[in-house]
Amino acid sequence: MDTKQKRILTGDRTTGKLHLGHYVGSLKSRVALQHEYDTFILLADVQALTTHFEHPELINSSIYDVAMDNLAVGLDPEKVTLVQQSQITSIAELTLFYSMIVTVNQLRHNPTIKTEAKNYGYADLTYGFLGYPVSQTADITFCNADLVPVGEDQVPHIELARKIVRKFNDLYGTSIVEPQVKLSDVGRLSGLDGNAKMGKSMGNAIYLSDSADTVWERVRNAVTDPARVTVKIPGNPEICNVYKYHCVFNKTEKDDIADRCRNAQIGCVACKKRLNEVLNQMLDPIRERRSYYENHKGEVRDLIMEGTRRANEVGNENLRLIKEKMHVLI
Ligand code: TRP
Repeated sequence: MDTKQKRILTGDRTTGKLHLGHYVGSLKSRVALQHEYDTFILLADVQALTTHFEHPELINSSIYDVAMDNLAVGLDPEKVTLVQQSQITSIAELTLFYSMIVTVNQLRHNPTIKTEAKNYGYADLTYGFLGYPVSQTADITFCNADLVPVGEDQVPHIELARKIVRKFNDLYGTSIVEPQVKLSDVGRLSGLDGNAKMGKSMGNAIYLSDSADTVWERVRNAVTDPARVTVKIPGNPEICNVYKYHCVFNKTEKDDIADRCRNAQIGCVACKKRLNEVLNQMLDPIRERRSYYENHKGEVRDLIMEGTRRANEVGNENLRLIKEKMHVLI
């Protein structure tokens, strides 16, 4: 029997600290799956350049922040491989090879690219930005990852990756693994302010490293049912942002809270206080582990260096086989 462990590759852009949206979208499943899969966590500093090329210092410090956030949520430093994207030469080379077979239309019609391009403005759309799904395909395939745990906005990229891999394998007879997506069971996490998405650029993010006071600040200011101006008026949990969070982070109490809201038995302040407790209970151990790593940055650096070394070994070997099949070696 083939007992070779299957591999996960997933990662984050190094453009800042990670927030609760990242946590429910991908970090949580990484933690759950790390013992079953050989887990590669990519610190995507090249992809960070697609939007933050004017801020190299931010990208540099974010390499540490993203690594520490991943370790803080419970990824085991003995188990997982932390990989600094820009140092993996096989990713750069594969990106170039894949770029020959992906069409510009495939990239232009990618729904995530379209939304993001709209936010940044089409006039400023760079070649590298439009092509980042190609480089993401290289991220996933340089190590032949089987599974990619991501949030739903990343699904078009994994679909494209599968198409590129199929075409490439057909053309050159390579056996690059076609990756599968592992979608989180929670859809996109909305902002407590009512914005459809939690994001740094939205100004509504609750970071994994935020203090208890900051978390309360966000929760206290959350927009609830606007019609419910006093406790005596029955509420509508369906349209309440705080209730949405109870559904994600407080599953055991959510039904009871919804009943009491509808019957005017619990007010918005009490409901927010409860959510605040639940969030901080979840974040306490994360903050504790993070502060350890903040005080041991050298350890974090060593983990990244060692993981990147291992990833290069894997990638170089795979790329040698690919180049043989492509007949680029003379
Ligand atoms: N695009 C991902 C994001 O914005 C980050 C990322 C880069 C990634 N390379 C990846 C995710 C490879 C999964 C696999 O969050």
